[in-house]
Amino acid sequence: MSLVNKKIVLGLTGGIAIYKSAGLLRRLVNDYEAEVTVIMTDAARQFMTPLIFETFSHKPVLSDMFAGPKIETRHVDLATSADLILVAPATANIIAKAAHGIADDLLSTVILVGGNKTLFALAMNDGMYANPITQENINRLRQLGYGIIEPEEGQLACQTSGRGRLVDERVILAHVDRRLNGHSWLKGKKVIVTAGPTREYIDPIRFISNRSSGKMGYALAEVAMREGADVILISRPCVLPELVGIKTVRVETSAEMLSAVLANATTADFLIMAAAVEDLSPTQMHTQKIKKDNGLRELQLKYAPDIIQAFREANQQACVVGFSVEMESPDQPGAKARSLAKLKTKDMDFVVWNDPGTNGVGFAHDTNAVTLLARDGGEWNFPLASKRAIADQILTTVIKNYIKNK
Ligand SMILES: Cc1cc2nc3c(=O)[nH]c(=O)nc-3n(C[C@H](O)[C@H](O)[C@H](O)COP(=O)(O)O)c2cc1C
Repeated sequence: MSLVNKKIVLGLTGGIAIYKSAGLLRRLVNDYEAEVTVIMTDAARQFMTPLIFETFSHKPVLSDMFAGPKIETRHVDLATSADLILVAPATANIIAKAAHGIADDLLSTVILVGGNKTLFALAMNDGMYANPITQENINRLRQLGYGIIEPEEGQLACQTSGRGRLVDERVILAHVDRRLNGHSWLKGKKVIVTAGPTREYIDPIRFISNRSSGKMGYALAEVAMREGADVILISRPCVLPELVGIKTVRVETSAEMLSAVLANATTADFLIMAAAVEDLSPTQMHTQKIKKDNGLRELQLKYAPDIIQAFREANQQACVVGFSVEMESPDQPGAKARSLAKLKTKDMDFVVWNDPGTNGVGFAHDTNAVTLLARDGGEWNFPLASKRAIADQILTTVIKNYIKNK
């Protein structure tokens, strides 16, 4: 994600979760290069001093409506020039004020001017959250187009447990990305993304697998989510952090991945098959660990089920994007032609060809370089970049060309 040239007003209100906002601000400014102006309410200043926020935003923190020797209208200027007003943490009080047009301090006035360019990340005691008045206020704001990031369940500062905890900063950042960089191209669309390798078990502790990390699929799922899709990520348990706002189905074997894909197939609009399904699968899985004393055995292999073909039998309408790992070398020429042949036999709309023989490309890297090939002969080369940037280019191109040809 990039937030270069994006102006964000970060509103901080009086809740314990404010300590998390320092980390959020640091990421907005340092990692994504947003220009952030921080406004703290008087209550927020009871919890933390402005110093840390001034340091991370490289600007003074604002609180006073009537500061300075000359009359200023910064409450208006700040709101109109901002691309986003992000309130995190957002107290029950600021929600109530925003829902009723109360503008009695700098932050609430900026929100009233900025209107529904405001995104609230809620944090409060579970009782405050469950109160029908708070719920009514939240619904009212949502209906008016304000962004609401619901709190999660868990241990609260008041030593109870319930719904009211501020979500992780990654969730907030995903919402910021959707609001500022998304185009809602996939709004209302169901997108299945598969990621990572599968494991084909020989016995309960041994398996055949491959070096896939799942990073490419996760990046594609994030971009699809940013574009407003209803994303189902089907992935083996992996070390990557859980993606926020995305329903993730955990599978291990190719057979489990097949049934998870088929369970969602008929209603899917897109299948993005980024998983490195392990083709080679033992004909039979031993129920007990194979013992050394029994001597070496021959391992009989079969091909694992072809998930794309099975999906196509269930759904002929969806846009299918497959991946093809093909190495181009003097003794294995024709990698692109082999990728195109896969596209045709499996009835895909697009295939992403990558060559893991190239530096920084493919399995386990944080970067990739790919060629996107379309059924109608279209071809796009995306040179070495982060997997997130490559995912963005793949999905943007697929969406534009698929919709154009529909
Ligand atoms: C220790 C402490 C923690 C609080 N935590 C929260 C909270 O997480 N959420 C909330 O809505 N209010 C919380 N409050 C109450 C708010 O600080 C209070 O409603 C205040 O008026 C909010 O003002 P503001 O919305 O202008 O920042 C807390 C109060 C105290 C003393």
